Amino acid sequence: MNVPVTLFDHARDQLRNLCQVAGFADEDEAPATVLRELLGAAGRRPLTAPPVWLSDVADDATPVEFSLAFDASGERAVRILGETIPENPGPAANIEAAKRFLTHMAQRYAVNLDRFRAVEDLFLTERPQGKFALWFSLILRPGRVPALKVYFNPLVRGDQAARGLVAEALRRLGLRDAYDTVERYALCRGAADKFSFFALDLDDGPLSRVKLYVSHDSGDSSTVERAATAVDGVDPLALREFLTLAGGGTGPFAGRPLVSSYSFVEADSGRPGNYSLYLPVRDYVPDDEVARAQALAHLERAGVPAAELDRAIGAMTSRPLSEGVGLVAHLSLRLGRFGSGTTVYLSSEAYGVTPSRARAAAAL
Ligand code: TRP
Repeated sequence: MNVPVTLFDHARDQLRNLCQVAGFADEDEAPATVLRELLGAAGRRPLTAPPVWLSDVADDATPVEFSLAFDASGERAVRILGETIPENPGPAANIEAAKRFLTHMAQRYAVNLDRFRAVEDLFLTERPQGKFALWFSLILRPGRVPALKVYFNPLVRGDQAARGLVAEALRRLGLRDAYDTVERYALCRGAADKFSFFALDLDDGPLSRVKLYVSHDSGDSSTVERAATAVDGVDPLALREFLTLAGGGTGPFAGRPLVSSYSFVEADSGRPGNYSLYLPVRDYVPDDEVARAQALAHLERAGVPAAELDRAIGAMTSRPLSEGVGLVAHLSLRLGRFGSGTTVYLSSEAYGVTPSRARAAAAL
């Protein structure tokens, strides 16, 4: 009898390929080990079985998404965004499973839970609302131990509570002034601008960050150019060029929203050190062939060879790019003194491929 391919098997092969592209040693077992833990019970299910939980990590409910960060310094990092799904999922059970994963990671790696503990009661409620309660990202670099980041959901107590929740969390983390900065630069368009993630680096270093994400419904280049001026030394024109090349224009982006994020470290007294812009490119292209072309237009300007993007895409899939849309899910541009660069987010497509616009139209 054949042993069925599991979700973990599928994702592990993609991760292994991607790590190879990023220059990891073949014998480095850490990526596969942490992926297995992150996926939890969902990872052990056969790929042919439907997802047990409709994770919002990816469009097809796969609870992981990969990304490859091209740092301006020439370094590469592979990242995994993921949600831990237990055997019998549900809002409360998912939080329990996520905490077990966190405890497990803390036992093995240099994870500092102090800041997590300082705010968890705000975000981890008994009856979480919204699309998730706790997500993780694992940051993998060749020859280094994996680093961990947690994402809380500011909308977990409803949209109305989000701003108060974020303000209180920042206060507890010694970043009281950060809230005003974000409000002034990124929450300028009423209900169209909203907090979407509250993230913490869980390592001990001096650059361990708090990251705040704001989504901009129907935002355009001017929305994010304004948002970026919160960070000293960032040239807003870089964002306009990025959107023009990678997003096909300056907007407005009326599908999935542009997202801004700010990185704060404790010593900063309210001024963020970095700004990042996330472009959900899959909503603004007919298929992945065009998404690739737009990503390349930007990457080549940033000095990244085309072959590297193609190898990363090849690490995920061998399907024709014109058949689907969403393999290249997001592109992001990071600017500031903690380091600049571009990140390409790649879907696992474990459960399904979104047909290209042409295919979807032909099927009508
Ligand atoms: N799938 C969700 C979305 O597209 C969440 C998400 C996954 C996301 N990766 C992301 C959001 C990168 C912003 C940037 O919104």
